[in-house]
Parts: sequence; C-alpha cells; structure tokens
Amino acid sequence: MSSAKVATLTSIKKESSISREAKKELPLDLQIEKLIRSDAHVSITRSIKNPSLSTGADKSGLAILPENSKKRLVEGGIDISKGYPQVPDRAKIPVYVDQAHAIRDYDMPYIERGKNADPEKKALLSAAKEVKDLTTHIGTEIVGLQLADLTDKQKDELALLIEERGVVFFRNQKLPPKTQRDLGEYWGNVEVHPQVPQVPGLPGITVIWNDYLQTKGMNINFKNCNNGNFDIVRYGSVGNQTWHTDLVHERQPAGITHLHLDTVPDTGGDTLWASGYGAYDKLSEEMKKFLDGKKAVFVSAHSYLNRDDPFGPPQQVERIHPLVRTHPATGWKFLFVNRSMTKRIVGLTPVESDVILNYLFDVYEKNADIQVRFNWKSDPGYGTSAIWDNRSSQHRNVWDNEGKVPRHGTRVTSLAEIPYFDPKSRSQRESLGLPITKED
Ligand SMILES: [Fe+2]
Repeated sequence: MSSAKVATLTSIKKESSISREAKKELPLDLQIEKLIRSDAHVSITRSIKNPSLSTGADKSGLAILPENSKKRLVEGGIDISKGYPQVPDRAKIPVYVDQAHAIRDYDMPYIERGKNADPEKKALLSAAKEVKDLTTHIGTEIVGLQLADLTDKQKDELALLIEERGVVFFRNQKLPPKTQRDLGEYWGNVEVHPQVPQVPGLPGITVIWNDYLQTKGMNINFKNCNNGNFDIVRYGSVGNQTWHTDLVHERQPAGITHLHLDTVPDTGGDTLWASGYGAYDKLSEEMKKFLDGKKAVFVSAHSYLNRDDPFGPPQQVERIHPLVRTHPATGWKFLFVNRSMTKRIVGLTPVESDVILNYLFDVYEKNADIQVRFNWKSDPGYGTSAIWDNRSSQHRNVWDNEGKVPRHGTRVTSLAEIPYFDPKSRSQRESLGLPITKED
C-alpha cells in the first residue's frame, strides 16, 4: 500500500475512535471508500508499486504522445482534444476486493471462432504474400495482409492459426483503434479494465505506454525493471516485464489478445512468448498424470482493500481454475501457470505447492525451444500487431529502451471460455504424432 494511502487511512482510523453513532457518520468502510474516491492523491488505480493516476482525459499525456501514435488516433476518429489517455472515473474504480471480484462474475456467452475454421486456413494463407514460422514450436509472421480488411472466414482461420501457433505477427499495418476493438469483439468478450488508462471514447482499448506511467511515478530503471526481485514479484508485486499470462483471475480469462504498437524504438522493446502446449509436453508422463485434473488459485495483478480489515495488507482477487487446461479449438492440453499470478495448487501443502509451481514456472521460462522473441519494427508510418492466445502461452516485455525512446500501443483482450480440463484430451505432441520420450 502506498505511504499516502496508509497515512490517510490511519487518520481515518484515529477519527473513528469518536463514536460514529454520536456523530451520525457513515460506517468506517464507507468513509474509507468515500475518501479514496475523492482524494486524487490516494492511488486506487494501480497496484502497490505503481503510480497514482488522476482521472478523466489527461492533458499531460498529450505533451509526450509520439507523433505516429497521435496521427493514428486522430485519423481513427479519436477525440484527444481534452487529453490522452483516458483514466477511468474514480467513482467506478473498485476500492475493496469484493467490488473487484464482482466485476464480470457471471456467465458471458462465448463463441470459439477457431473451432469451426478450415483446418488448412486456405482463405487466410492463400491471400498472404508470405507466411513465416519464426520458430518450430511458437510464432508465425504473416506478410502482405491488412488486419483491417479480413473477411469473417479469414478471421475464423486466423483465430485457429493463433491458437495453434501461440502468437501471430503482422507488420506494416494501418489499424484504427476502433477496428482493433471490432476484431476483438468478433473473437470474444472485450475486457473493459476497471482502472488502467484507455483510449478516449473507446472503453476496452487499453493503452500500453510505460513512458506515460513513468511520468506518474512508475519506478522502473535498468537495475529494477522486473518491478522488484523474484520474491517480490512472486509474492507481492507484478509487472509486464515478468513472465505472465494476462487476466487469469477472471471467471472467463483472456483468450485472443491483440497488442498493436504504433510507436517502437529502432532497437529493442522486444516481447517474448512461450508455449503452454510445449511446456506441458516437456513434463514426464508421470508428472502429467499427477497434474491432470489439479486446480490452482490465481490472483489479479492489482490489489484492493479488505473490507473486513481495511488497515491490513491489500488483497488480490482470487479465482480457482484448472492447472492443466484443454483448448476448446485445438483440443490440446496446456500448462496454465505463471510465476506472477499463480498462487498455489489446491490440495497440496504450501511447501509442496511452492516446489512444484516453481519447477513448472521454470519449464516455461527456461526452455528456449518453446519461446519466440519478437522485434516490433515496421516501416515508418505503420504499426505492428501481435495477436496471441492468452490461454496457452505466457509473455514478457523487454524494457531495454529504458523509457528514453518512445514505445506506445493499444491492447484489446477478448475474454474466452470458463477454463476446463477434459481428461480425454491429448497433448499437442500426441495429437500431431510427434515423438514423446518415455521415462524408465
Ligand atoms: Fe501482459
């Protein structure tokens, strides 16, 4: 919790010793909520180590908005005259963890577009100038197609390609933000984040812009760009520089996710992805059997107050999901864990859970043959899109531009199915008939 928040809450606690009955005051939790919503100096917009943002359209962001990003937004019909980005209304941002948990805590219809696509993806692939697999196991780049021009048939096939290959890249795109959101709506339920900066007038398009957050107090530097050491990352804070999968605390977590960068450094600012199908197939057959059917507790990236103990440590939203999931389109099993947000395996002791989880995180993070590293460079005036399956992969950003060279983009996340495990499903290698080493 920020020191400002602690100080303010402490002063409320002292005042609360006076009988609320006598003063006819609100209950303590409502007093705190009221104060936090009205005090711009108290951060409710980010987790512990992240900055305090004001609310509404931010004029200060306009001053540092890179030229190509501004051009894309204005040409795309976005009104940035009042400021950029748009920080959600404080009145709607959750203060208590129960408020955050209640967001989207209900069934949302979901159509898996990749499921009925042509397995050969002829409409999509025949229209491309070139289709390049960047590594054997993960990552494909498509050359010569504009995402803005895809037919529904091509979008279905692209969904399946993303779900098989983990991540698909498109350089040299002209992609208005609204078109990016339309694509996301086709592939699932677009997530509207309760507290991160958005594109004005288009809720559901998250602004990815560390340079801006740094002006608001985000404390990252060359020595500390993982938002702390591994223990802090594991048990306290998180950041997109650490391996993770987005929004795993949701009832229906992220499916297809689309990041479009319209400004990138000439060198660096890369992103890495790792395959969850590959991570699962790295395990021994006995370990696979042990993990199949197990569940884990997943937590949110942001922290909130505990209504029953508002002066105590902040809490994250928690949700239980299968640790091995079956993909609804490919039918393949994948390992669904990440160091940032998988807290413990249900049914094991804390020590057992930590030993096994740390091993599983390592499998994802240390096997270079199931990873791809991508540099985002496009021709001047164009942007680059990476569209990935945010179920069966992890990703991390490389912050080597150190905030000196601008990097800006917009992200749309399509929430997908309620995670499930089908005991009859097979791994990717089993399904493709690739050799599986059996242990003695
Ligand atoms: Fe992420």
